Amino acid sequence: MSPSTLAGLLVLLVSLWQFINLLRSKKNGRKLPPGPQGLPIIGNLHMLGNLPHRSFQKLAKKYGPIMSIRLGSVPTIVLSSPQAAELFLRTHDRIFASRPKVQSSEYLSYGAKGMAFTEYGPYWRNVRKFCTLELLTTMKIDSFAGMRREELGLLVKWLKDAAVAREVVDVSEKVAGLIEDMTYKMLFGRSKDERFDLKGTIQEAMFMTGAFNIADFVPFLRPLDLQGFTRRFTALGIVIDNILEIIISEHEQDAINGQKLNRDFVDVMLSMKNKPINTHDELSYTLDRSNIKAIILDMIVGSIGTSHTAIEWILTELIRHPRVMKKLQDELKTVIAVDGIVKEIDLPKLEYLDMVIKESIRLHPVAPLLVPRESIEDIKVQGYYIPKGSRVIVNTWALGLDPNVWSANVADFSPERFIGSNIDLLGRDFQLIPFGSGRRGCPGMNLGLTNIRLVVAQLVHCFNWELPNGMPIGELDMSENFGLSMPRANHLLAVPIARL
Ligand code: HEM
Repeated sequence: MSPSTLAGLLVLLVSLWQFINLLRSKKNGRKLPPGPQGLPIIGNLHMLGNLPHRSFQKLAKKYGPIMSIRLGSVPTIVLSSPQAAELFLRTHDRIFASRPKVQSSEYLSYGAKGMAFTEYGPYWRNVRKFCTLELLTTMKIDSFAGMRREELGLLVKWLKDAAVAREVVDVSEKVAGLIEDMTYKMLFGRSKDERFDLKGTIQEAMFMTGAFNIADFVPFLRPLDLQGFTRRFTALGIVIDNILEIIISEHEQDAINGQKLNRDFVDVMLSMKNKPINTHDELSYTLDRSNIKAIILDMIVGSIGTSHTAIEWILTELIRHPRVMKKLQDELKTVIAVDGIVKEIDLPKLEYLDMVIKESIRLHPVAPLLVPRESIEDIKVQGYYIPKGSRVIVNTWALGLDPNVWSANVADFSPERFIGSNIDLLGRDFQLIPFGSGRRGCPGMNLGLTNIRLVVAQLVHCFNWELPNGMPIGELDMSENFGLSMPRANHLLAVPIARL
């Protein structure tokens, strides 16, 4: 049989199988949520476009906030209203607390041995407990306040020189570099390593992890590598592994040489090697080198890949809205001491800053579709049948624009909409869940928010920001890039003007 006849036969068989499944679920009275008709084999994959959050929102306007689509052979539910998100992430949190097995985690997360892409169960629970305790408690975060102040001080000093020279600054790049520096100090106890480009590597990994990879949805097409993902994952996996090996082996060497005064996160992880991680009530697990690398990588991605995206959008919106910028600077003037240095104890006093951050994150959530979930049991939600193994996508970008919960001018940037509101970012108010919610909600939220508040406050307190070459603010490009996170498509360029 020729390869083309074989492929044709395969396509026919898969289409037949999908059709029989559809008939069977209809016959069993298992009503799926409404959704657009899919094509044989690929289902609705062709409808995603370059910015899937926007395509999903358009489709949801027609089919409703609990929408059913098929991505290849994977039944998928897309949630587009706060009420729908609450049903899945709070009411039935446990059922939807797993993550799908995807090619990216196989190649980039050592077979999903970290935290973020690991299936729901005791291993994930223990890794999460352990990382939270060792890195993400308020006490741990506070213990790095001095380091953050120092790193931010260096950037401010650099920007002051740029201001004197009236230089155009790549704000996106500078902020991403600052967050990278802070991450190095926090996780590896040292300054940035110029031997490799960790930030660029993580940005590529986030882009590829967020992309809809046909191989995940139509497994029999995987050997053809139609999008070139297998090739790119393999290459990226090698780069990431080399970087982690260097970091880890240098930590091991320092420990042997007795050169370590303070233990950092990598040291703590290494001290756990080949020991069971603490489980009082559950199965125990031994962490080998690949587990350790996967967990460290998740912490790197969580740290490096997120806060800078939020910050570049906040600064973009502030530059586009001089009235808001001025109001925020006035607030900063009343709270920050005359030395001009924003201290972390000042942050809770900055109420308008808090509103500005919420408003920008509402319009530009860092992870527009959160991180995909997978259901672990068959379940009925609002009369709809959701089969076990369904992919659940929460369109948090659409939640932020839902006209039923926000006012009519929903697309406007107006921090004042939060005056007198007690909506917070903790995952309890489903119209604003940039950190997700429930068991799989972001464990790094407090660290992320501290970074965002501190950096925005300091950069806005010390500088006014002008667009290059007198560009009118209306011309500032606002295009997005889609991946696991949603950064600006083009870096934010601006000229700092020192204020203090
Ligand atoms: C602005 C900053 C951040 C944003 C917007 C953000 C957003 C998110 C979102 C949306 C999720 C998925 C939640 C869900 O499925 O319900 C998530 C998960 C996660 N985040 Fe963050 N994050 C941020 C910072 C951080 C930081 C600083 C770290 C760690 C150092 C981190 C580590 C993680 C991990 C490990 C997960 C997976 C949790 C799990 O699956 O159990 N994040 N984050």
